[in-house]
Amino acid sequence: MNQNFIFVFILLITLSIVNAAPFQHDKKGIQFKKCEGYPKDAEPDLLTVTVTPDPIEPGKEETFDISITLKNYNITDGTFLDIGYVDDDTKEGLGFFSLDICSKTKCPIEVGSKAGSPYSTTQKFAAPTKLPSKYTISVLQFLNAPDIGIPYSCAVASIGS
Ligand SMILES: *[C@@H]1O[C@H](CO)[C@@H](O)[C@H](O)[C@H]1NC(C)=O
Repeated sequence: MNQNFIFVFILLITLSIVNAAPFQHDKKGIQFKKCEGYPKDAEPDLLTVTVTPDPIEPGKEETFDISITLKNYNITDGTFLDIGYVDDDTKEGLGFFSLDICSKTKCPIEVGSKAGSPYSTTQKFAAPTKLPSKYTISVLQFLNAPDIGIPYSCAVASIGS
């Protein structure tokens, strides 16, 4: 009887620790990191991305603040900014947004001096109406050309557990 009580008590404590982990993740917020899996000599630059509100709520408008200091490429006609939500389990696309940068901004935006040139944009669009327990958001800037398979710059965030 006593033994059982202790077991249940330990189990409850363990569960509360496991449950606390996602909360800590939420407090820290959504973190965008560099994209993996590209050849070392062709790694995309890291985009700085923040999303608000955080945490993301299904169907609600989400604001993406995206910036980079251009050092390795110019933004020219045909450069796009894409944002995608993907279900981690099924790999299904849940939501997608694409911006033809030069249709909204005067182009080219050139690297210029050694220090580089800033590029930043704020884009708003609705989060998918259904969000699975675990999903990934990727943000890419790339030149839409037939022979280009690697983005200029990129950032990904894993959400949920
Ligand atoms: C950016 O454009 C300028 C002017 O055309 C060019 O001189 C420079 O090499 C370009 N930089 C990169 C990184 O492509």
